[in-house]
Amino acid sequence: RICKNYEDLSTKAGARVAGQIAEKENSVLGLATGGTPEGMYRQLAEQYQKGALSFRQVTTFNLDEYIGLPTSHSLNYHAYMKTHLFSKVDLLTENTYLPDGGAMDLTAECERYETLLREAGGVDLQVLGLGHNGHIGFNEPGTPFSSTTHVVELDEKTREANARFFDKRSDVPKKAITMGIETILAAREILVLVSGLDKAEALSAMLYREVTAAFPATALQKHPNVTVLADEQAAKGL
Ligand code: GLP
Repeated sequence: RICKNYEDLSTKAGARVAGQIAEKENSVLGLATGGTPEGMYRQLAEQYQKGALSFRQVTTFNLDEYIGLPTSHSLNYHAYMKTHLFSKVDLLTENTYLPDGGAMDLTAECERYETLLREAGGVDLQVLGLGHNGHIGFNEPGTPFSSTTHVVELDEKTREANARFFDKRSDVPKKAITMGIETILAAREILVLVSGLDKAEALSAMLYREVTAAFPATALQKHPNVTVLADEQAAKGL
């Protein structure tokens, strides 16, 4: 669906998430970070403040987290989620999950995350952003589609794109934990948000390129229930 602009995209994304919770109050949501979903989180916080929505029974699982930033660091994804959603709505802290990038045993942490997802019954609705190089979560080009939650080395391009959130580029972590492509595709429904002219090429590749590990987002072509919300700028190449 092509949206007029970023505001429109954010409103529609918020409405889909709110609709999901209305259909099933104990929904399991898969959540993304980055610049793109910020407007959607704003919409959801507003709906909650108006009394139109409650997250009391909702469980959330985030896609990914940096490794190498202290848990209390203001730029990790725990902090992002707190700022944009968790502190603004009535989600119960014990129902919000992110990978622990500070875990001593990272392999065990990846397994723990997969187990938690399984025990929660899987994700009902997964929100996704799209990286310029086709990454979803932090699944960089070349990641096997059979991957589950794992540790990744971040692509230099990804570090560069995310450097805007840090004081200097060298502060951007080199590693992260991410849900794998198989983990993401296991969600019953997926909502992809794509905004801005700089994402136009990536969006067109996601939709029209042959399915290839060289461009991870093409894996979404294999999923039966994906909605893409793109603003007019991002849709310029379609
Ligand atoms: C980041 C995140 C992804 C996000 C993507 C796009 O690196 N790990 O979860 O969806 O890249 O980010 P943005 O929305 O800021 O363009």
